[in-house]
Amino acid sequence: MNKTTINEECPRCKGLGWIKDKEGVRKCVCKYSQVTDSLFKRMNIPKRYRDKELSNFIKNKKYGHDLILSRVEEYINSDDYLDGKGLFFVGPPGVGKTHLAVSILKEFFRRRKLVGLFYDTRSLLFDLKATFDGSSSGREILEDVVKAPILVLDDLGSERLSDWARDILHYIIINRYNELKPVIITSNIELKGKKSENSLEETLEERMGSAIASRLSEMCEILSVKGQDMRTSKLLQLQYGK
Ligand SMILES: Nc1ncnc2c1ncn2[C@@H]1O[C@H](COP(=O)(O)OP(=O)(O)OP(=O)(O)O)[C@@H](O)[C@H]1O
Ligand SMILES: [Mg+2]
Repeated sequence: MNKTTINEECPRCKGLGWIKDKEGVRKCVCKYSQVTDSLFKRMNIPKRYRDKELSNFIKNKKYGHDLILSRVEEYINSDDYLDGKGLFFVGPPGVGKTHLAVSILKEFFRRRKLVGLFYDTRSLLFDLKATFDGSSSGREILEDVVKAPILVLDDLGSERLSDWARDILHYIIINRYNELKPVIITSNIELKGKKSENSLEETLEERMGSAIASRLSEMCEILSVKGQDMRTSKLLQLQYGK
């Protein structure tokens, strides 16, 4: 089961992970300043993304990354999440959408002690389908996803959905919408809008139906992430020495 809150507290930092005194703000020495391996597991953050931070997101002015990052910072520092507000990162492959979504989960833990949950959407549906024979584990996964204080649904709408998958996503989004619980979405396709005449690309609304798209557009601010595919970029190889 994914526990959504941490009960123990550090007497120095009150469990916030940082201390503010006359010298400024600094990290506490306690475990709250670290997102530990066991937390990564609870949050279901994939290994590849565990070292991803807002601070190691390389900004390129040409693509408006400054604006994206300052909007993300504003979101993290605000209480918008309490009103069920989230973010919807849309853009082509390799531009850093998942990197940003994971960084947000980590910052929510560091700054607010909230243990969020990450799921690649297709894997979530697969896991649920594999366990949804009435066994308790399927229901537990679904309950964790519905109740997580902040949820990342990665790569939403990457394929056409069966009626079953659509119903499950419907259930998750509608429950979170009703309970004012935020979602952070990443996707390669636009949420709504008309596809141009010669575009083969569908929108999420077309793939998932207007009930989901309408709720997501109320819940999420859309941030369009542009850039080059960093998976094949020399810039990234220089940064990480790969
Ligand atoms: N601006 C950036 N600065 C640093 N690293 C980046 C940046 N953009 C992408 N990366 C890195 O490139 C790799 C691919 O990024 P990521 O997986 O976040 O892309 P994505 O937009 O989610 O792509 P997809 O749509 O295929 O899921 C990751 O290792 C990520 O950390
Ligand atoms: Mg991604």
